[in-house]
Amino acid sequence: YRIAILASGRGSNLQAVLDAIATGTLDATVAGVFSDRTGAPALQRARAAGVHAQALSPRDYPSRAAFDQALFARVDAVAPDLIVCAGYMRLIDAAALASRAGRIINIHPSLLPAFKGLHTHRQALRAGVAEHGASVHFVTPDLDGGPVIAQARVPVEPGDTETSLAARVLAREHPLLVASLRLFAQARVALHEDRVHVDARAL
Ligand code: GRF
Repeated sequence: YRIAILASGRGSNLQAVLDAIATGTLDATVAGVFSDRTGAPALQRARAAGVHAQALSPRDYPSRAAFDQALFARVDAVAPDLIVCAGYMRLIDAAALASRAGRIINIHPSLLPAFKGLHTHRQALRAGVAEHGASVHFVTPDLDGGPVIAQARVPVEPGDTETSLAARVLAREHPLLVASLRLFAQARVALHEDRVHVDARAL
């Protein structure tokens, strides 16, 4: 099962996937890592694991559509079964998504549909919720609005700051993403007419 990963930054979710593959808890291959930021630490993590890694700079393209066309041409070249946005901070052109429906997912640090967009931990603290978490969902043109595949929940503790809450969520993101990818690798999840179908045997 071939996975392409899009990442803009730190790449700790990418690392969790690479580690799960290395230890044999995920039966898959990371076929390539792609970034919109040439300095993304995620690229170094990929190369350290012997994975093809490439960055394109949006500045070099006249439009979002042109950038995504160039990016996805490179993604397609590694023949992925699934494309995973893991800390990929750039909107994807609707045309690029249309031809990949059901084959592109994202991990987002909130319990969607709550707290879409940026600064989700700050949003959660301001809203005063008792529970927060992370979601893995299919990517559609509706930003952070695509069908949810799986979620992990954490409590919001008294005295939490954005930093402490983010750390608690991130620790759960890594196993959540790996478990979600296991579902895909085992052909136990699919998108049909905007609805997620999961074979509900134990993860
Ligand atoms: C994660 O919190 C992810 O959910 C969000 O951006 C962060 C990326 O972290 N979309 P990393 O680059 O995987 O370490």
